[in-house]
Amino acid sequence: MYIIVPSSSSMKLTSSLASKLNAEIANVTRKRFPDGEMYVRIETDLKDRDVIVLGNTSHDSDLIEYLLLLNAAYEEKPATLNAVIPYFGYARQHMRYNPGEPVSSKVFTKAIENFADSIMAVEIHDEETLKFSAKPFTNVKVYDSIADYHKNHDIDYVISPDDGGYERAKSIAKYLKVDAYYIEKKRIDSRTVEMKMPDIDSRNRNILIVDDMISTGGTVIKASRILKDSGAKKIYVSAVHGVFSLNSAANIMENVDDLSVSDTIETGYSRITVSNDIKNALEKKIKV
Ligand code: R5P
Repeated sequence: MYIIVPSSSSMKLTSSLASKLNAEIANVTRKRFPDGEMYVRIETDLKDRDVIVLGNTSHDSDLIEYLLLLNAAYEEKPATLNAVIPYFGYARQHMRYNPGEPVSSKVFTKAIENFADSIMAVEIHDEETLKFSAKPFTNVKVYDSIADYHKNHDIDYVISPDDGGYERAKSIAKYLKVDAYYIEKKRIDSRTVEMKMPDIDSRNRNILIVDDMISTGGTVIKASRILKDSGAKKIYVSAVHGVFSLNSAANIMENVDDLSVSDTIETGYSRITVSNDIKNALEKKIKV
């Protein structure tokens, strides 16, 4: 029986996963020292237990809490220690784009594998990061959970806003028994991206735009506007990770009919849970 140590960034997902796995949830005390530094203490005995430390690392404080909890769990000498990170922050910097930059996702993968026996992330931005770990590192895909949310929405087309997300769009489209397309993105300069629509008739169609993450919302808003201008009836937008920087969720809602993200990051738009996908991946890992 697993015991889950929850980071404060993933409390709802912890409850959902715990009930599906029939797992216990560890008690954690958190406070701040007078100078602002974080203090955590796991109050439940973890010795010889199969432990999951669950939390997203979206903000820097989430990352610090996560690493502190992971070390606290490790020091208790559990039987197994499984790092489950639904949203793996810093994964966009998985390579050096310019001299002098760090490989950020490598820094945090190395820090995690110091203590964990295995790592699991949900739809990490780029699978290059998996190679930075010598321990098993699983990337959980949640295509079916996203597709299932849309099964009664009469979707006509599933569209990825770039070619990198086409596999996701195809898989969701297959589940919904419709066609998938992607938008060709061309970078004009550092601030301008041109979007070329696929050759489809969008008039009076319900269209689902799916992406791995929404940050500023610029990508999905631009795609939605083009599709609306070409006569689409309803625009549904879904992403795995709702980062929603710069109040982007409100801006997106002005342009679309429905916005849904998963609970890898817990937001007001987290209408899709990834707990089943994580449970299935954990069970598969045990069987291997
Ligand atoms: C890009 O590679 C990603 O798949 C997303 O399209 C991108 O991160 C979304 O960012 P934003 O919401 O800021 O346009």
